[in-house]
Amino acid sequence: MLRRLHHDQPESFAFTPDNQKWAEAQITKYPPGRQASAIIPLLWRAQEQEGWLSRPAIEAVASMLDMAYIRALEVATFYFMFQLQPVGSVAHIQICGTTSCMICGAEDLVAVCKDKIAARPHQLSADGKFSWEEVECLGACANAPMAQIGKDYYEDLTADKMGQIIDMLAKGDVPTPGPQNGRYAAEPKKGLTSLTEFDSGHTQYNASVQLAADHGDTVKRIDGSEAPILAPWGAAAPTFTEAPKRETSAAQKAEAATEKKQAKPATKSVDKPKAKPAAEIAESEPALLSEAREGGADDLKLLKGVGPGLEKTLNELGFFHFDQIADWTPEQVAWVDARLKFKGRIERDDWIGQAKILASGGTTEFANRSKSGNKKT
Ligand code: FES
Repeated sequence: MLRRLHHDQPESFAFTPDNQKWAEAQITKYPPGRQASAIIPLLWRAQEQEGWLSRPAIEAVASMLDMAYIRALEVATFYFMFQLQPVGSVAHIQICGTTSCMICGAEDLVAVCKDKIAARPHQLSADGKFSWEEVECLGACANAPMAQIGKDYYEDLTADKMGQIIDMLAKGDVPTPGPQNGRYAAEPKKGLTSLTEFDSGHTQYNASVQLAADHGDTVKRIDGSEAPILAPWGAAAPTFTEAPKRETSAAQKAEAATEKKQAKPATKSVDKPKAKPAAEIAESEPALLSEAREGGADDLKLLKGVGPGLEKTLNELGFFHFDQIADWTPEQVAWVDARLKFKGRIERDDWIGQAKILASGGTTEFANRSKSGNKKT
């Protein structure tokens, strides 16, 4: 199947402010020079926001990641989960058409979609509210036939149920996802035959359906306001600075220039994001030692996140003792961080908190394990 950009493209794309922050936090997950690894989560968030991936959206993400447009386009066109044409403003319905679902009635569900939405997959309904497509196995075969609508699975469907769900969505209701025939999850239709002591009544629905019902946002577009914006390691997102440029050969530069030229849109498209301001925290050099104090250096490898290589770097910078690290201010952290190969480790692994404990004569779980020779985290 050919996957091409849609013929009708919007003028521009921009993440919502919250999604922008979320995307920037995702990028910090990867070491400098490897930001392109964030391509799939960023494209996915763009799709979650807009419903589909337009050319300006793909280019905006490529610009954020300092990638040639063609590279981002290759990713977007390779994975079928990315929608390359507008989808229904209310819902895009994905009917599983693989073996189990096909045997159990997927064709009937497709017939309902053809009748109520549009004759062809990926075609918008007359009111623009719905679209549909047939997809490969979605991994819910024990609840065949099924469909994914928005973020949730609707299982054990019949043609009637499928029609009712579409009608409810059209009215603005959010039908409860999960099994539609009374089953709790994927147990036998006639009830449990084993593990019968299992109490299925903890929650009204099974875990994933309960979560969906609690959120109540099956088909809601994601604008980033849904959850706190966290860096992948759980800390507040650090200020985003533009990815450092990698060393590239003349041949690579020429190739990238050609690719960008070829991928240049014929019509006005997204503005390349402007360079982000440098980190807000000004650097300040901490007190450095030319050598360890009398008694010798502390074993900085007792800090989780510090291996032999980083210990050597810290020693070369002038840090030999836990109390030095324990006293770092945010400005001094910025100074040290700027001199480490992989940024963000100090905060991610809480070096200062660990160093405070170790400097005061205490110990940490990691230090104990390190001393006993088991350094697995
Ligand atoms: S065959 Fe439909 S979910 Fe697996």
